[in-house]
Amino acid sequence: MQLQIAPSILSADFNDLGRDIRMLNRCADLIHLDIMDGSFVPNISFGFPVVEAVSRSATIPMDAHFMVVHPERWVERCAELGVAMMSFHLEAAGDDSAKILESIRAKGMKAGLVINPDIPVEKLFPYIGKADYFLIMSVFAGFGGQKFIPESIGRIEALKAELEKRGNDAPIEVDGGVGIANAAALRKAGASIFVAGSSVFNADDPCEAVAQLRNCR
Ligand code: DX5
Ligand code: ZN
Repeated sequence: MQLQIAPSILSADFNDLGRDIRMLNRCADLIHLDIMDGSFVPNISFGFPVVEAVSRSATIPMDAHFMVVHPERWVERCAELGVAMMSFHLEAAGDDSAKILESIRAKGMKAGLVINPDIPVEKLFPYIGKADYFLIMSVFAGFGGQKFIPESIGRIEALKAELEKRGNDAPIEVDGGVGIANAAALRKAGASIFVAGSSVFNADDPCEAVAQLRNCR
């Protein structure tokens, strides 16, 4: 499967965000938007004014990752702003998850379901066929720049095996501490969308970092 690189603008320069978005347009596949509410996670990032600003400069698809309680409240707004992929946490939505996935799809977006590292990966299995992609957190959601949790590799392998068993080709996205040191192992495990914040934006040449991730073997 072709790898897609989704730099997280959580690590971008918010004082010069337009410049960073134009750079990503040239070399990345997706723009990852980390939306935090200070309630589901112990941090607040940014909200719709920033998503709207990004939408005016972005020529590549926006991938919105909601770390919020009540993600269902924001489906409509995301669709209006042209978000292509919207994901939310199973821990936040619980039994409403299937319904929310459906409502995201109904708005013409790809629907993604996310779990933190302490949620058994099997909890995603009932949503195979209902989600367009799955996001495995390889750090606990809330902050950029955390250390990759190595057990994430086995979790991706387990999800990939189950998807293959069921003949489902939903992509697996991985988010948190992703960089050149673990990219090849993640690819081998079955991840095909790499979120990378600090490893891209802290690099001397962020586009070169994106290319290295995409070419990892
Ligand atoms: C964490 C976010 C991530 C994060 C990735 O809550 O979901 O997208 O910004 O940042 P790095 O790549 O620095 O771990
Ligand atoms: Zn994220």
